[in-house]
Amino acid sequence: MNSVTSIADLREIAKRRIPRAIFDYADCGSYNEATLRANRADLDAIGLRQRVLIDVDNRSTASRFLGQPATMPVAIAPTGLTGLFHRDGEIFGARAAEKFGIPFCLSTMSICSIEDVRASVGKPFWFQLYVMRDRGFAASLIERAKAAECSALVLTLDLQIQGQRHRDIKNGLAVPPRLTLANAINIATKPGWALSMLRNKRKSFGNLQERVPGGDSLTTLSQWIASQFDPSLSWKDVEWVKSLWPGKLILKGVLDAEDARIAADCGADAIVVSNHGGRQLDGARSSISVLPGIVDAAQGKVEILFDGGITSGQDVLKALASGAQGCLIGKAFLYALAAGGEAGVTRALDIIRRELDVSMALTGTRTIDEIGPHVLA
Ligand code: GLV
Repeated sequence: MNSVTSIADLREIAKRRIPRAIFDYADCGSYNEATLRANRADLDAIGLRQRVLIDVDNRSTASRFLGQPATMPVAIAPTGLTGLFHRDGEIFGARAAEKFGIPFCLSTMSICSIEDVRASVGKPFWFQLYVMRDRGFAASLIERAKAAECSALVLTLDLQIQGQRHRDIKNGLAVPPRLTLANAINIATKPGWALSMLRNKRKSFGNLQERVPGGDSLTTLSQWIASQFDPSLSWKDVEWVKSLWPGKLILKGVLDAEDARIAADCGADAIVVSNHGGRQLDGARSSISVLPGIVDAAQGKVEILFDGGITSGQDVLKALASGAQGCLIGKAFLYALAAGGEAGVTRALDIIRRELDVSMALTGTRTIDEIGPHVLA
């Protein structure tokens, strides 16, 4: 891990280590992947102001999420199928985040269950909720998150139906992984991954046991999501979720100022400005380009979190300077996990924190609170 100096390095290692269908699931966007590329390109296009002879000794990346202290303004985003990127991936991700001192968010679509992860860490984590057609089941997930003392519920708004992802369709992505001839040939080239998965009992959705198709089913992931997720979800349902969940509520997937105004007025604690990593509406604007408008629309009523292309500490600095209070990493987390398990995730977090720290210093900034639009060129 010592020769790894960037998230791009971790991505390359991940590509070599895990089956293509799993790697592509993390790496892809929907349709032509225009929004996926825009997330990156628009972050890259933002310049930083180089400042000199400002005392930048005693810097700190310490920050807060929903009032709770964190060692840097970065949280691990909820990502589906995480336990297929590495055996017990959600557990290792949660442990790395806990040791580093940042929030970890477990996805509804995780391989390790809420209870598995809770038993493996000392502190509560965030839980991300997809609302199913079967509202009784969604309510039971909320109950389980309460029983696990999850510190926030993250309700995803932008996946009422799944965006079409050509790479997943071509790879025939299914959970548990389906052994087509092409998959089998590809898996044969990843013996380390295959052995550790064979030994592992967790290969399917840990939170959704009774809803997962049988091992012999030909249902692909996207067909299964279409059958389970509720496309009729509306703002009224946010009220319903709030009536069941007394804790902090984060609404994830706001990309439009009009939606941001509604979200800010509906009593949520935070919103995540997100286009789901370019995986949902291809052609939607990049997260970073809409961020300032959403910050204005929210009028300080909710905390503003951000995701969409964050692969470095410089990206974090740019998002914070554009008005976000914290960032989430999804793809970067999964590459790191696939590349090196818990040590890989810790390495990724170290890389991002160091890049943030150095970039703060060279823009004349010592604390997270000092970051503002003035650091942007
Ligand atoms: C799930 O959140 C996905 O993007 O596949």
